[in-house]
Amino acid sequence: MLERIKQLLEEVSQLTAANPEEAEALRIRYLSKKGEISRLMEDFRTVPAEMKKELGMRINELKNRATERINELKAAAAAQETTADDVDLTRTPYPIAMGTRHPLTIVKNEIVDIFSRLGFTLAEGPEVEDDWHVYSSMNFADDHPARDMQDTFFVEAHPDIILRSHTSSVQARVMERTQPPIRVICPGRVYRNEAVSARAHCFFHQVEGLYVDKNVSFKDLKQVLLLFAQEMFGPETQIRLRPSFFPFTEPSAEMDVSCTICGGKGCSMCKGSGWLEILGCGMVDPAVLEANGIDSTIYTGYAFGMGIERIANLKYQVKDLRLFSENDVRFLEEFTAAN
Ligand code: DAH
Repeated sequence: MLERIKQLLEEVSQLTAANPEEAEALRIRYLSKKGEISRLMEDFRTVPAEMKKELGMRINELKNRATERINELKAAAAAQETTADDVDLTRTPYPIAMGTRHPLTIVKNEIVDIFSRLGFTLAEGPEVEDDWHVYSSMNFADDHPARDMQDTFFVEAHPDIILRSHTSSVQARVMERTQPPIRVICPGRVYRNEAVSARAHCFFHQVEGLYVDKNVSFKDLKQVLLLFAQEMFGPETQIRLRPSFFPFTEPSAEMDVSCTICGGKGCSMCKGSGWLEILGCGMVDPAVLEANGIDSTIYTGYAFGMGIERIANLKYQVKDLRLFSENDVRFLEEFTAAN
């Protein structure tokens, strides 16, 4: 019997299987109830008592070796079985770092999303504009200081062609081709001839809103802006409107939200006032409606405009405006989770 065990041990150590079926056949041959090892166990019963200990150990060893070997063969055969269907050819051969959305894109998307839910549709206009759409049609007087070289980038040799200094130009673009009801939200990049510093940049981003229809009132404007502020900064947020002046709105206002950091108690962010200014707004000046082909005796409208960098600063406390355009990946990667 010892001989037979040795022989089987030898056999087991040399087993091979080309596929899972062959490996299974080996399991049946050696390890099943009617297999070689079970047969040995039967014979074992008739062995004289003094040999039982030694033989028992040997049979156990054989059984363990056979199980180990056959399991190995099964695993190897299964691994080889992979077919073309199991291979994901679209996977990259090496891990690639995923990009992140730019914080300004995140905030812009959020603003657009909030107003879309209120029924506003998206409108865009060109960054290289003419004086009419940026200034004249928006009721800027010929000698308004914003037209000055200090503010506006002119395209050389074309005093009429400029880089838009605000997205209000898109209001004009929309009104000249559409009759009311108009309800649009217009995100975009704007340019101003300013020295670049932590607090000012020669380009930045704005979102413009415009609503023109019959019976649009200041009350509607206030309600929409309150909803926006609470969606953007949280349901506890309060707003206040302060009288202001813009050439294209009458009356005009600036809107503050209760401080996003201290909630209104006063802190360094709001310089102790409890309020943060976030946008300009007002009722569209009838002169603007008329300049853009809309009958101001029938229609009224409201408009508002806000800086995306400003809102992003309030949400993420970015201290230096330049970070938004430097594309430093260490800064950009901080916004991974915000996607
Ligand atoms: N265009 C203004 C700016 O660049 C922002 C603005 C204020 C837009 C009031 C508006 C508005 O539509 O009603 O500073």
